[in-house]
Amino acid sequence: MKACITHREIFYHLLHAVFQACEKKPVIAEFGVLRGENALKLYNALAPEKMVLIDSWSPAANDAYSPFDPLPAWVEPVDSYAYYYGGPMDDPATWDALYQECLSKFVEMDNVTAIRADTISAIEQIQPITGIDKFDLVYIDANHQYEYILRDLMYYQDLVADDGFILLNDCCHSHLGTKQNLGVLEALSSFLKRSDFIPLAVTNTDWSDVILVRKNSIMVKLVDMALTNSDIPFVEIPHQLISAAKVIRGQQRVNISFA
Ligand SMILES: C[S@@+](CC[C@H](N)C(=O)[O-])C[C@H]1O[C@@H](n2cnc3c(N)ncnc32)[C@H](O)[C@@H]1O
Repeated sequence: MKACITHREIFYHLLHAVFQACEKKPVIAEFGVLRGENALKLYNALAPEKMVLIDSWSPAANDAYSPFDPLPAWVEPVDSYAYYYGGPMDDPATWDALYQECLSKFVEMDNVTAIRADTISAIEQIQPITGIDKFDLVYIDANHQYEYILRDLMYYQDLVADDGFILLNDCCHSHLGTKQNLGVLEALSSFLKRSDFIPLAVTNTDWSDVILVRKNSIMVKLVDMALTNSDIPFVEIPHQLISAAKVIRGQQRVNISFA
């Protein structure tokens, strides 16, 4: 696994180069879309054949933020992130506005389908609505709690093509992540033991992004070649160390430590 000094958008361009080498226009999805900013970056970088956007766009999205009342002292109240959502998170109008803002970004893309549902309810809708059986890349950024991200990984691995990618956002242990009760890295640790996926690369950032593929996939070699021949600086480490990753924050920047 390569710990890369780069950002998630660079990964999208790198994977585009890999798909191009395979003469493939990928079928992709984003789970957890919000106002569609990252979905548009994925679309522009990867030039997909088809793209599916899945989000509940509903106040229920934060129902599982923490099982505890009162919250543990190290977790910030979910309302403190209202600025990020553009309004009160328990108000359906906030979510309707986010949904419309997202749709407005894709009006001219007739190969993009938005499904307004939670990630698990969406599964049975994908094939009938879009005709898609398998994805070449899924970007997971929906519910970030341990049980939910593990469930997304376990279900959606079956919808990822043999040589397809899973990208996981916010896959880190960090000061800021702890305040949001993130369980993504812990869910990945469990998923790796239950599946044949391995991590190929992680960004050296807070809110880290991780690229996953099946260990026998041709993509292991192709991504290795693409990264090795790119100008992205990286340090190569055994992929089993991913569970040890933690973000350390200095005065100038953050880094990832595996110590
Ligand atoms: C962090 S935001 C996504 C940000 C977006 N990926 C980006 O980078 O621009 C998380 C989104 O996940 C959605 N979400 C949370 N839990 C979900 C679930 N179980 N099913 C579907 N969407 C969910 C929320 O509605 C919210 O829009």
